[in-house]
Amino acid sequence: MAMILSAQTVNSQGEGTISSLKPVVQLEQISRIYGSGEAMVKACDRISLTIHRGEYCAIMGESGSGKTTLMNIIGCLDRPSHGRYRLDSVDVSHLGKNRLARIRNRQIGFVFQRYELLNNLTALENVILPMMYLGVGRRQRQRLATAALQRMGLGQRLDKRPTQLSGGQQQRVAIARAIVNRPLLLLADEPTGALDTHSAEAVMAIFDELHTNGMTIVMVTHSHDVACYSKRIIQVSDGRIVNDHLSPQEM
Ligand SMILES: Nc1ncnc2c1ncn2[C@@H]1O[C@H](COP(=O)(O)OP(=O)(O)OP(=O)(O)O)[C@@H](O)[C@H]1O
Ligand SMILES: [Mg+2]
Repeated sequence: MAMILSAQTVNSQGEGTISSLKPVVQLEQISRIYGSGEAMVKACDRISLTIHRGEYCAIMGESGSGKTTLMNIIGCLDRPSHGRYRLDSVDVSHLGKNRLARIRNRQIGFVFQRYELLNNLTALENVILPMMYLGVGRRQRQRLATAALQRMGLGQRLDKRPTQLSGGQQQRVAIARAIVNRPLLLLADEPTGALDTHSAEAVMAIFDELHTNGMTIVMVTHSHDVACYSKRIIQVSDGRIVNDHLSPQEM
């Protein structure tokens, strides 16, 4: 499988090096409260967390522990009820929906458990889509999307629709779509949750490659085996971080 990822493709700054120690995500005492009174749920409870450029983190925890809520805040899909969130040193805690949407578009790539591709578009068109909002010219969009898919080993599948692809192939299209704008941060919520072992390993190999080329990655997973591909494991329970340590492969 041709999965050679050049630094230019994956590094948000277009550089091949990991400029260490620059914080990308800074959460300070973040809470997210749903409902009120009896029905109140503190999905995130005073979470403080810093993730630096080039880090590869896994967020783990039981069902209902607050992982997706935390990812949605990090990904600017949701805002904290309390606390401060700085993304790449910009305070985004109180930004309105439109500003958050713009930041998401430019800075963040998302990968979901169920791929979330548009079934009426080809693989190539799915990858082109995020560039439409950024005013990238037509030929440039074609060129970048083709290159991203080729790097995912899907150069022969550009014109296929999602229903003509396997789950693993669909997830690789979704990763191409997530990285094509060279995001600052790649977020993945259970990226291998719907895949067989072989396809999951292929996805993890891509993440490894992206990490090696400087991408900052945060993924949610239930699987200890998957988490072990990352470098740092953050464990969440009842909306709080209960453990934050190097992954076993780093020890
Ligand atoms: N929109 C919502 N309205 C009310 N409560 C919510 C909402 N979204 C999540 N919750 C609650 O917040 C808590 C955390 O949910 P969250 O989806 O973040 O957990 P999770 O760790 O991602 O779980 P899973 O592993 O099942 O995906 C749960 O108690 C959940 O019921
Ligand atoms: Mg979840």
